[in-house]
Amino acid sequence: MNKTTIAKAANYVGDTVTIGAWLTNKRSSGKIAFLQLRDGTGFMQGVVAKNNVSEEIFQLAKTMTQETSMYITGKIVEDKRSPLGYEMQVSDIEVIHEAEDYPITPKEHGIEFLMDHRHLWLRSKKQHAVMKIRNEIIRATYQFFNDNDFVKIDPPILTASSAEGTTELFHTKYFDEEAYLSQSGQLYMEAAAMAFGKVFSFGPTFRAEKSKTRRHLIEFWMIEPEMAFTDHEESLKVQEEYVSFIVQSVLKNCKLELETLGRDVSKLEKVKTPFPRITYDEAIALLKEKGFYDIEWGEDFGAPHETAIAESFDKPVFITHYPTKIKAFYMKPDPNRPEVVLCADLIAPEGYGEIIGGSQRIDDLELMKQRYEEHGLTGEAYQWYLELCKYGSVPHSGFGLGLERTVAWISGVEHVRETIPFPRLLNRLYP
Ligand code: 4AD
Ligand code: MG
Repeated sequence: MNKTTIAKAANYVGDTVTIGAWLTNKRSSGKIAFLQLRDGTGFMQGVVAKNNVSEEIFQLAKTMTQETSMYITGKIVEDKRSPLGYEMQVSDIEVIHEAEDYPITPKEHGIEFLMDHRHLWLRSKKQHAVMKIRNEIIRATYQFFNDNDFVKIDPPILTASSAEGTTELFHTKYFDEEAYLSQSGQLYMEAAAMAFGKVFSFGPTFRAEKSKTRRHLIEFWMIEPEMAFTDHEESLKVQEEYVSFIVQSVLKNCKLELETLGRDVSKLEKVKTPFPRITYDEAIALLKEKGFYDIEWGEDFGAPHETAIAESFDKPVFITHYPTKIKAFYMKPDPNRPEVVLCADLIAPEGYGEIIGGSQRIDDLELMKQRYEEHGLTGEAYQWYLELCKYGSVPHSGFGLGLERTVAWISGVEHVRETIPFPRLLNRLYP
């Protein structure tokens, strides 16, 4: 018996193989039944012709319920009409488990219903394509940072400190102490950069944000590179190289998935270095030109502002040099103009918003002490981070890329809830 998978069946054209599969849909007329099959690696059509199989198998093919699992055997033949390029001429079916009435039928369902059935919804063709693209972005991320000599370092999830302010922290008890779930590994990655030079982390982060938007998750995954002896400009180069690499990897390795999602790939093909850059000041001027007359220097940008700015470019755009007072305590002020910091947000095209936040970090002990006072970082939890400025402090920069927003943009799906296997949202912890 040639046991294989749908994805690998291309190597067996002309041969008879057996595949473990589920039925996703079927239709039949008089003497022929068409089975839509999936096996985790892909989706394929199985053709059951009445005069090719026993009467028993033909009846089975016509009556099988959706999501019934089986071993299905037949000859792989070329089929120019299918995106896959081949199908199976079925000769035998061995049912493993006959599925009960499956809640997700081929008809339309409301989003809350689908979210309640996320454990099953993951089987659908669209969700499968999005998760395969997510997987390719993860694979390409490891490849990029390994090829560029970064060391993978894992920061803790349970922490006593916060990098991005205290309002959005998840509290928990750590025996008798207070602890939080990590909202960013950055401070630990800075310590790691002083030990290993170029490092990156890839892990879950948590934000108790009361935001119910297409861009916000409570639990999301972040890639956080940190580089010693690296200034802001050099960091921007790494960022554009990295983002362009993952986009080009998806274009090359996920053709079927992009087609399934109906993604306009011509837009992705343009995502090559260098990316455009505008300063915060220029962004304010651009927004006023576009009719946002009320925006004042010193205010942060919201989703509508980011979308309006992104519309002027066909690649991701860096907005640099934000006002010091609206950014995090660790960002290095521009030596020529201390009211702005050496930082950038990378805004994705097509309204997907900020996918990267990054900056050069403060490396001067006196300035860092001053920031601690201004931000009330008095507790013992922050003492270790201050020590990094005492022992051979060097210029260093880093950034954080949000995985799910990046998956949403590259896949072209509207909402981040479809870009993570089991989304954690405001008011949703199930399933
Ligand atoms: O801009 P943020 O808050 O930056 C940091 O956490 C830095 N400490 C990173 C660093 O420099 N090492 O978050 C980084 C990215 C955002 O650009 C966005 O893509 C994503 O994380 N992100 C979210 N994604 C989904 N849901 C949320 N609630 C998110 N909050 C941030
Ligand atoms: Mg940010």
